[in-house]
Amino acid sequence: MSQPLRYLVTRDATGGQLRNCSTYYHYRRSANTLTDVSELFRIEDLHAKPIEGDTEILRGIDLAVQAGEIHAIMGPNGSGKSTLASTLLASPEYEVTRGRIFYQGDDITDWPTDVRAKAGIFLAFQYPQEIPGVSVIQFLRQALSARKGIDLSILELRLSTMGWMKRLGMDSGFVDRYLNEGFSGGEKKRNEIMQMAILEPELAILDETDSGLDVDALRTVAKGIREVKADRPNLGIVLITHYQRLLDELAPDYVHILVDGRIVASGGMELAAELERDGYEAFRSVTQ
Ligand SMILES: Nc1ncnc2c1ncn2[C@@H]1O[C@H](COP(=O)(O)OP(=O)(O)OP(=O)(O)O)[C@@H](O)[C@H]1O
Ligand SMILES: [Mg+2]
Repeated sequence: MSQPLRYLVTRDATGGQLRNCSTYYHYRRSANTLTDVSELFRIEDLHAKPIEGDTEILRGIDLAVQAGEIHAIMGPNGSGKSTLASTLLASPEYEVTRGRIFYQGDDITDWPTDVRAKAGIFLAFQYPQEIPGVSVIQFLRQALSARKGIDLSILELRLSTMGWMKRLGMDSGFVDRYLNEGFSGGEKKRNEIMQMAILEPELAILDETDSGLDVDALRTVAKGIREVKADRPNLGIVLITHYQRLLDELAPDYVHILVDGRIVASGGMELAAELERDGYEAFRSVTQ
């Protein structure tokens, strides 16, 4: 499925300086303020369906993430994980039919993608899209400008990407290639993590960032995520994955199981171990 360029660019906008942005203030003023300031993010009874179609994919999701926490979401194919990720960034593909989304004390349910991204929510896509004609560095520059309101020169940006490219095992010529065009599966995933590192979100939703990575690349990417987290300990992460391996690397605080558009179990790493051993059968019966 393809996302409009505006959605792709603005999903990455975040942070401090953008709080000067009048649109951002408009949304903050119009929001309900919550009392618990340590709470980064909360969704309540979230229901969503594709814009075109009547079948609900998300059927009542509750989830709360405190600053600094890592939450893993696991679930069978087609259970609604990517739909949840896209809905959290207000993808134009989906419509919220019931429930609320709160972020840093604001009700953001009606906020558009660019304002959510400016406020610090980042999504690493399961299937990063190719954008012929737009280089990695041009894309990053636009995204950084949208998120932080700062216009770095290509040279400045090149310097700030160099360290991360090295850490993520990427060749320095990468940033001049067209975004994701001809990238291998693993290169696309590393590139998503580099964007996260540069854009410094407050909440990162990583949709199957481990898929398609070989064993060494998975370790490299996990290390990159740990380094981003070490730099910014309050970063909240929602980690969507099918495999325990990434969880072993990142040690999430909570594991949730999503089946048929609902979270049917929440716990610690023991849930992931149970899944690895028994599969989803026991969890499916919960939804019936
Ligand atoms: N825009 C859409 N229009 C119609 N159906 C959709 C749309 N988006 C998602 N779906 C359907 O909703 C269900 C959930 O899809 P989703 O991509 O969220 O699953 P997932 O849990 O991420 O699966 P996977 O593990 O395979 O990535 C699937 O049956 C999918 O076909
Ligand atoms: Mg998915």
